[in-house]
Amino acid sequence: MQPSFVIGSASRIYIGPVNEILPEVLPKNRVAAISDAAIDRLHPELLASCETVLVGKGESIKTLQTIETVCRKFLEAGIDRSTFVLGIGGGIVTDITGFAASTYMRGLRFGFIPTTLLGQVDAAIGGKNGVNIDGYKNIAGTFNQPQFVICDPALLATLPEREFRAGLAEIIKIAVIADAELFARLETVDFARLRSDRELLAEIIRAAIRNKAAIVERDEHEAGERRKLNLGHTLAHAIEKCSTRLNHGEAVAVGMKRIAEAAVQAGLLAAGDCERITALLVRAGFALEQPIETKRMLKEVTKDKKSRDGLVRIVFPTRIGDCIVRTMQPNEFASLMQRQTKKEGAI
Ligand code: GLY
Repeated sequence: MQPSFVIGSASRIYIGPVNEILPEVLPKNRVAAISDAAIDRLHPELLASCETVLVGKGESIKTLQTIETVCRKFLEAGIDRSTFVLGIGGGIVTDITGFAASTYMRGLRFGFIPTTLLGQVDAAIGGKNGVNIDGYKNIAGTFNQPQFVICDPALLATLPEREFRAGLAEIIKIAVIADAELFARLETVDFARLRSDRELLAEIIRAAIRNKAAIVERDEHEAGERRKLNLGHTLAHAIEKCSTRLNHGEAVAVGMKRIAEAAVQAGLLAAGDCERITALLVRAGFALEQPIETKRMLKEVTKDKKSRDGLVRIVFPTRIGDCIVRTMQPNEFASLMQRQTKKEGAI
């Protein structure tokens, strides 16, 4: 079976019906699945033929403690290096799976079946497998590519509306940073119909993955270009650290809007392009309401332990389909954001 995309020489990405693709690509070895209770309830057929470890729900379980629990369960079940590990679920499940499989007994082969839109277009693609420490996202983790990823748009039918929308934020993000044609296509999409139009949904998922896979192929370990995938994420992570009101996609949507406005303020982006970005986010259903004050958000950005040499790396869109990464002093970034906040009268 031909994959839709290949990253490196060995990570194959398939878009299509999981029941047809999985039997073709799953090694004949013993298989251990990692999943969660929602998948067990909604898609029991996916777990029927494997031994399964269920993990909890929500960002709070993306910890080293969960990795330890999974490894302990593997040990009790006598799982060894010949076992293939299959992660079935959203981005949290695939991150946990990739991390546990990469470290248990120094590494088992693994594959993913992402069941959320965000997982299919972003989290499960590209081999980043991380967990959080003290609220800092993905502080411990690996770069290790899954052997395969199967993205089946049909699995998204059971996804709650809000979670589906979260995936749209990452699709819009990839269009803003790398694909003006995809952005223009999204401007014509009727988002209320998208989920039921399987063909269109598959086309959009394919376009998003094509862009991400190409970037990862050129810069797997995020030494340069891959940083562009963090558009809107510096602010989103600060928002998520201070408030649980928004999910990741919603926080990314707010972050993208604020950064696009700051890019206009800095003379990097035309006002018309910024308006198109905001209009598309609104049309996709994002309220774009910033849940915390700008001052608080910037405080989180500037004290972020992840920033190197005390500097922050910010991705600014420069036009639809292109962006730049600027390394800035935290106070330089804060004053740019505050200037823009005062001008717009935002919080
Ligand atoms: N989600 C960002 C990346 O994969 O690099």
